Amino acid sequence: MARVPVIGGNWKMHLGLGEALQLASDVRNRLGSVRGSEVVLFPPFPFLKPVVDRVEGSNLRVGAQDLHFETSGAFTGAVAGPMIKSVGCTHVLVGHSERRTVFGDTDAIVGRKLLAALDAGLVPVLCIGELLEERKSNETFRVCARQLQAAIGAIPTGRLDDLVIAYEPVWAIGTGLTATPEQAQEVHAYIRQKLADLHGKAFAEATRIQYGGSVKGSNAAGLLGQPDIDGALVGGASLKAEEFAQIVKA
Ligand code: PGA
Repeated sequence: MARVPVIGGNWKMHLGLGEALQLASDVRNRLGSVRGSEVVLFPPFPFLKPVVDRVEGSNLRVGAQDLHFETSGAFTGAVAGPMIKSVGCTHVLVGHSERRTVFGDTDAIVGRKLLAALDAGLVPVLCIGELLEERKSNETFRVCARQLQAAIGAIPTGRLDDLVIAYEPVWAIGTGLTATPEQAQEVHAYIRQKLADLHGKAFAEATRIQYGGSVKGSNAAGLLGQPDIDGALVGGASLKAEEFAQIVKA
């Protein structure tokens, strides 16, 4: 079964409202009627609803960059899955490396957030990947396996139909260093094998695995041409509509 490529634009903590709306319009003009791939924008929380409104009626989707694992309560500063869903979002990033390294999201917290996303009816984009030290000490596979097991090992397969995985080697995020297509493919193939071990071959074959880490217009085709790379999670280059559109076209 062919997997539909999924391209995400992670805007991180960038832009003001006016710029975010302009970018949403520029992306809509270029990609609003995109077919054959799924395109999801991930603006900061305050811009979610305005961006949802700006792309309404197009084929673009909108998601949040994080969520809390509880559905409501005394959690000052946090945003719950049902809130994200209620403003028209369809997706949410879970376990992005910046959440793990800057905000201290552990494997256990990431697992709880993933469940919260599913409970809210959002498509979770589970981000995994190794640090530079871990790659240098040949621990890449072990780290990815641990992160996968912790996040989805205990969830019944039937609940994970829409799950998207993003393999993002931390050393390639925002650094301009990209994994080569061969390096990325090697890990993607390993992740797919691990998905098969955890939830069966049919699940592994159907699940989309994005690559993320300094994806640009100029390197997207090589990465996306690999058999186990089913899309990209794009940070910096997603802030430029033209370059983001080039990646989607690749
Ligand atoms: P980058 O970020 O494209 O700027 O490296 C990717 C990401 O963090 O998802």
